[in-house]
Order: sequence, then structure tokens, then C-alpha cells
Amino acid sequence: MVLRRKLIAGNWKMNGLYADGMALAQELVGRITAAGPVGFDLLVCPPATLLYPVGQVLAGHPIALGGQDCHAAEKGAHTGDLSAPMLTDLGARYVIVGHSERRYDHGETDGDIAAKVAAAHAAGLVAVVCVGETLAQRESGAALTVVADQIAGSIPAGSTSHNLVVAYEPVWAIGTGRTAQVADVAEMHAHIRTVLAAKVPDPEKVQILYGGSVKPANAASLMAIADVDGALVGGASLVAGDFWAIAESCR
Ligand code: PGA
Repeated sequence: MVLRRKLIAGNWKMNGLYADGMALAQELVGRITAAGPVGFDLLVCPPATLLYPVGQVLAGHPIALGGQDCHAAEKGAHTGDLSAPMLTDLGARYVIVGHSERRYDHGETDGDIAAKVAAAHAAGLVAVVCVGETLAQRESGAALTVVADQIAGSIPAGSTSHNLVVAYEPVWAIGTGRTAQVADVAEMHAHIRTVLAAKVPDPEKVQILYGGSVKPANAASLMAIADVDGALVGGASLVAGDFWAIAESCR
């Protein structure tokens, strides 16, 4: 059996002015410093405006920094976008790609996402690729097929457990307070690992995170599921105590 370390990732989304981001990062650093060595990895993905100052707070501490998106091109005339090398330049090690809020709010296709993931890999970043079905797709019995198609289309050649994390986030569970049933999460994560075999040489080593209304109260039962290797946390990652409690549920 392969032992995969749990990864607890905070997706701050479009939240936090400078003072909020500093306070949150400092509190997380305080918690991990007080805890000493822990059996899980922590990642925070602040909005672009806070990447640099949050990175300065995290420097030298075991909390990784990540972006929330990147452009497929290395540089150029793309107003408002960030390239993967710009993220690396600020000390980021990860980037979230293909979040449902990008897929649906910005019309990103699997092909767009695969190009972004390839750019992330070229810049030395680990891509956290998000997949997940809508409520209508789940209710029509299409969830497994939808997610398999997203994996097939969004993960480029050259992906391995060293540069890829997958996050399963049922769209209907994001920010809604609804979480998927343990049995459904177990089924989907095992399915994702099977499908990944066509994409990466070492599927058993790829971390597969669950995301969608993960809170301190439900984290332990979700993190105990066999193929769940951590969490991608939105709302609860904005409260240091809640994010830390979710991470501690992996101990
Ligand atoms: P949520 O968001 O925890 O607020 O549901 C999760 C995500 O979108 O990554």
C-alpha cells in the first residue's frame, strides 16, 4: 500500500484585503510553529494581490503558497492575467487550475485547462486540477462519466504524482453547506484513481483532494475515506481556527 501524505489546501478565492490576509497567514504560521512536525501538508492560495505579502509571511515555514489560476502563455498581451512563471517567481509551488468557478464563470474548457496545466508544469509548479459534476449531472446518473471526461481532457501528457494533484469538487457542494455522501465520495475518488492510470505513470501516488463545504464538523469523516488524500477548502479556509481544525482532523 502506498502512503500518501494528506494535503490541506485553502482557496481564499476573491477574499481578503491586505490586513486580513496578513492576519490569516500570521495566525496559520503561529499554529504550525506551535504544533511542531505534523503529518499533513498545508497550502494556501490567496488572491493575486496578496501572493507576495503572504509569501513573505510564510517564507521559512512549512506552509506552501499557491496561485488560483494561471494563463497558458508564458507572457504577452493578456490584460489582467498571470503567467505560471510569475507565480513561481513569487515563491508559489502550486496553482489551482480548472476550478468550477473558472470553468463556469469564465467558460474554461478541458482543453484550456490542459494548456494551463502544461504551462504550470513548464514553470515547475504543481497543478491542482479541479473536476466535479453539477447537480443535474449527478441526478441524471452521469457523475462518473462527466468526471472521467474532465480528467481525460484536462490532464496533459507529462503529468505525474510530482506535478499533479486532483481535487474532486462536486459543483453543487461548493459554498452551499451541502457535502457529498461518504459512499459517493469513496466511489468517485476510487474511480478517479482508476481513470488516472491512463494519464500518469504512478496513479497510486497522486493526491486526490475532496472539496465542497469541508468544515471542522465534517472533515474527519471525509478525510478517513480510503482514496481521499486531503481537502480543498474555500469558506472555512478564511478562518484560521477552522482551517487548522480541518488539517488536524488528518492527524
Ligand atoms: P467551499 O469551497 O469550501 O467554500 O465549499 C471549496 C472550493 O471551491 O474550493
